[in-house]
Amino acid sequence: MNSFEIRKKFFDFFEQNNHTYVKSSSLIPAQDPTLLFTNAGMNQFKDLFLSKEKRSYTRAVSIQKCIRAGGKHNDLENVGFTKRHLTFFEMMGNFSFSDYFKNEAINYAWDFLTKWLNLPKEKLYASVYHKDDESYEIWNKSIGLPDNRIYRLGEADNFWQMGDTGPCGPCSEIYIDRGNNFGCQESKCAPGCNCDRFLEIWNLVFMQYDRQVDGELKPLKSTGVDTGMGLERLCSIIQNKDSVYETDLFMPIINKIEELTRIEYNNSLDNIK
Ligand code: ALA
Repeated sequence: MNSFEIRKKFFDFFEQNNHTYVKSSSLIPAQDPTLLFTNAGMNQFKDLFLSKEKRSYTRAVSIQKCIRAGGKHNDLENVGFTKRHLTFFEMMGNFSFSDYFKNEAINYAWDFLTKWLNLPKEKLYASVYHKDDESYEIWNKSIGLPDNRIYRLGEADNFWQMGDTGPCGPCSEIYIDRGNNFGCQESKCAPGCNCDRFLEIWNLVFMQYDRQVDGELKPLKSTGVDTGMGLERLCSIIQNKDSVYETDLFMPIINKIEELTRIEYNNSLDNIK
C-alpha cells in the first residue's frame, strides 16, 4: 500500500465514523505566540479544547504537517541516529471535542490498525499513564490485550502537552514490535525504550487539563481526544521497510540525489554511532 492509499484509508475510516475532514493548517501557527512552528495536529484545535471556540462539528480528522526542530517537542537531536525520527513529518489524527473519550478513542485506533490495515495483533503493545486505570482496563478487557503487552509509564512518556502551557492530559501509546534485529539487545528492552525495536506508531491523548504558566493543571470544562500517528512510521511498517527514509515518501527524492551525486544511499546507522 502506498502513502496515498494509507492517507485515504485513514480519512475514509474516520469519515465513516462521523468525523469531519479538516485540512492541515499552516506550519506557522495562526495567532499562537506560544509556538514557533506547528508541532501537532491539535494545534489548530487548541481553542476548541479550551472551550473558547465552537464549530459545527465535535469530531474531526486531519493529516497535519508538523515541524519538531525546537521547543518542547524537538526531534532534531535524534535525526540520523534512529530509523524513525524526522524534523518534518505528517501527523494523522482524529479528534473529539466534548464528544467521545477514552473508550471510543482506543477502540477506533485498534480497529483501524487491525481491521483496516491488518497489522498483526500479536505484535501490538500499548502503554498507559501509570495512574490511568481506566485506559488500562479498556485495553485489557474491551480490546483483550494481555497484561504482559500493556505498560504503565510515567509523565515523560505518557502525559502529553503541546507546550509549556495549554491543553494537556494523560495519553496511551500504541507500539509495534519490529523484532530483535531492531533492538538494543538489552534484556529490559520494552515499549518506552529509546531503541527502534518497539516503534511507537500512535499516541492517543485524553485532554483533561489546561496547564497554567505556574504549572497548575486546571481541569478543562469538558474532556476531549487528540491523537497523532506518524504517517512515515506507518508507511515503514506497511511497506516493510527498515526506516522511514526508505518508504515511498522519501525514496524518490533519495534516488534523485543518488543519480545527481553518483553516491549510493547507505542505510546503515553504524557509521555514525
Ligand atoms: N498531540 C499528540 C502528539 O503530538 C497526539 O503526540
